[in-house]
Amino acid sequence: MPLVNRQVVLKSRPGGAPTTADFDIVETPLPAPGDGEILCRTIYLSLDPYMRGRMNEGRSYAANVALGQVMVGGTVGEVVESKHPAFAKGDLVAGYDGWQAYGVSKGVGVRQLDPKRAPISTALGVLGMPGMTAYVGLLDIGRPKSGETVVVSAASGAVGSAVGQIAKIQGCRVVGVAGGHTKCGYVVDELGFDACVDYKAEDVFGGLSRTCPQGIDVYFDNVGGDVLKAVLRLINVNARIPLCGIISQYNATELPPGPNWAPILINRALIKGFIISDHLDRMPDFLRDCGAWLREGRLKYREDVVAGLAAAPAALIGLLEGRNFGKLLVSVSHDPTR
Ligand SMILES: NC(=O)c1ccc[n+]([C@@H]2O[C@H](COP(=O)([O-])OP(=O)(O)OC[C@H]3O[C@@H](n4cnc5c(N)ncnc54)[C@H](OP(=O)(O)O)[C@@H]3O)[C@@H](O)[C@H]2O)c1
Repeated sequence: MPLVNRQVVLKSRPGGAPTTADFDIVETPLPAPGDGEILCRTIYLSLDPYMRGRMNEGRSYAANVALGQVMVGGTVGEVVESKHPAFAKGDLVAGYDGWQAYGVSKGVGVRQLDPKRAPISTALGVLGMPGMTAYVGLLDIGRPKSGETVVVSAASGAVGSAVGQIAKIQGCRVVGVAGGHTKCGYVVDELGFDACVDYKAEDVFGGLSRTCPQGIDVYFDNVGGDVLKAVLRLINVNARIPLCGIISQYNATELPPGPNWAPILINRALIKGFIISDHLDRMPDFLRDCGAWLREGRLKYREDVVAGLAAAPAALIGLLEGRNFGKLLVSVSHDPTR
């Protein structure tokens, strides 16, 4: 084991889009686990849109990262030293060690992984927080019924790709919204969506009018902004809108003008924001159903893996510009299962 730990810390708070200068890479002494703690070697680090909010000054639904502190993030790692009764050296686990090569934790919220059941990286994507967000948001808030039309934005991404496939499993017509020909082609040809609107190439209202002839019953919103405005013009009576994310605004310095809410009133529609950490009671159901669908080949996923901790800042910046294609991960060190 090395004697030093490598960490990516927040150096400055971005005004608008972050730059690599907002991060610093530092070396610190390798931490030692105390009683009841484990030391993990990070194998994969998850990069997720919420991290942009953690870089801001004010508190959102969770505390921000303090200047000079390690950036937060979900991780998959190997236990290299354990003083905790529930973990042994060599265990593969999903935890929350953040942007660093090694992390010490008390094991709270740390989940054992079985590489025979699924590749360990999926614990950060399709069988992790993004997959569970799709499962809970769609099934509990969207409540799709067979034959209904479901639209999802950021459709090729970690959450959106799972939303669309779970909606297909429920017997729905599924239309994605994504940026670019390649992502739209993937969503239709590989994931089995019925159609995908390329918001960079065509007017979203026109594209959705063409692909949703029966209107929209469920809109799983990952982006907010202009896509939401276009969707609202097409919703059906009693439509449901799980409001999952507003990535089009995460780098905004001023609030954009809001949508016209009249269609919500006229159609008696439900729009409900949700944060997945409030729904951890659904984890067993999610792991049972999505684990089975994954093994049956009914739930597919795509990963976009960048190499090395030093690549993390630029990769997160790229995610906020749509440069990732699939669940964005950093390969921090060797995956012993590959
Ligand atoms: N509520 C919760 O608890 C919860 C939990 C997890 C995730 N989320 C939210 O779910 C959404 C998707 O997250 P994810 O992990 O699945 O990320 P992702 O889709 O894998 O990656 C983000 C994607 O967002 C799209 N995007 C980026 N900038 C955009 C912009 N200005 N306008 C429109 N689209 C843009 C890009 O796809 P295109 O190239 O197709 O535009 C990009 O690839 C995010 O809003 C995230 O914050 C919420």
